[in-house]
Amino acid sequence: MQKIHVSLGKRSYPITIASGLFQDPTAFLPLKMGNKAMLVTNQTLAPIYLDVIKDSLKQLKIEVDQIILPDGEQYKTLSVMEQVFTALLKKSHGRDTTLIALGGGVIGDLTGFAASCYQRGVRFIQVPTTLLSQVDSSVGGKTAVNHLLGKNMIGTFYQPMSVVIDINCLKTLPARELSSGLAEVIKYGIIVDSAFFIWLEEHLDELLSVDANAMEYCIRRCCEIKTKIISLDETEQGIRALLNLGHTYGHAIEVEMGYGNWLHGEAVAAGIIMASQTAYRFGQLNNQDVSRIKKLIARAGLPVTGPKNMTPESYLPHLMRDKKVLSGELRLILPTAIGQSEIRMGLDHKQIISAIADCCY
Ligand code: NAD
Ligand code: GLY
Repeated sequence: MQKIHVSLGKRSYPITIASGLFQDPTAFLPLKMGNKAMLVTNQTLAPIYLDVIKDSLKQLKIEVDQIILPDGEQYKTLSVMEQVFTALLKKSHGRDTTLIALGGGVIGDLTGFAASCYQRGVRFIQVPTTLLSQVDSSVGGKTAVNHLLGKNMIGTFYQPMSVVIDINCLKTLPARELSSGLAEVIKYGIIVDSAFFIWLEEHLDELLSVDANAMEYCIRRCCEIKTKIISLDETEQGIRALLNLGHTYGHAIEVEMGYGNWLHGEAVAAGIIMASQTAYRFGQLNNQDVSRIKKLIARAGLPVTGPKNMTPESYLPHLMRDKKVLSGELRLILPTAIGQSEIRMGLDHKQIISAIADCCY
């Protein structure tokens, strides 16, 4: 079992990583006898994991209710979030309740946002079930829902009270979703950790076959990197923005293609290639590093070009709505080498579009 401590003063919390945690009531121990909880999950996960987690909670004498939401990025909305509030109110949950997010990043982001608003804030636990949510979205307290005009545009910073990562559940994850999670994994290597990037080059096949030892190391390393960044910059005033490598372009793809058509990790993967190509055009990144990034992303089963039906120009309005835009100025995260990246502003838009064109069909 691996334990990582997210150090944020009063908002600190543990991340526990192991196989078989869902069957272990102690994994949920911040909850204690007499507590009330609401399990939030979706229609795909409920039949697989709801009963086992409810059994563990019942062993702790937790009074547990559940709400099962529709599955998909297109349901990460304010109106679906309202269903969570309705369920909480119908079952008379008060300020001492705890929401438990059982699912991938969609359930985690939506449940965290609901927890931050319900009766002005109640506790919540992240129980991430996708690789993407285990290495990224369950840690760090970014919560959100989408708007038709922009991804994750409505949300809060609100930390969970713990993160419970059971590696076993990756065995039921579809291969396409596993690849999607690998985009965020590769991101960590590119932005700050060249040794981890090399480890990924050497161990990618083990990750693709969900080898437990490789997976445990990978998830732990990603959580360690993210935890360190979060502890320095919880609300993204600076260095945390590096975690958005590829996301500015990726969010444009997700919105333009319709939520759920390109998976988040697929859009981020194409976005990482675009960011690398932009860095190359501006003389910041050498050709060899661009090639290594492209090769690893392709080996992970991820796209290295944008969607066929998106023109390079169509990205720009989305880029300009990005949350990193400051005083109307676009800010992009660009790699400067494998294991190094920086926030760049003042870049010529024509060059940015040309770099995107290099990554289109
Ligand atoms: P997701 O939550 O949609 O889950 C992917 C699919 O896999 C769903 O169909 C889900 O039902 C299914 N699934 C989940 N776990 C499973 C399992 N163990 N077995 C079988 N099926 C399973 O997608 P995701 O990739 O986990 O998350 C993407 C979301 O995360 C996006 O909305 C993105 O914006 C968000 N995100 C947030 C942060 C953050 O910091 N908060 C970071 C990265 C991404
Ligand atoms: N996934 C980006 C962040 O947490 O900041």
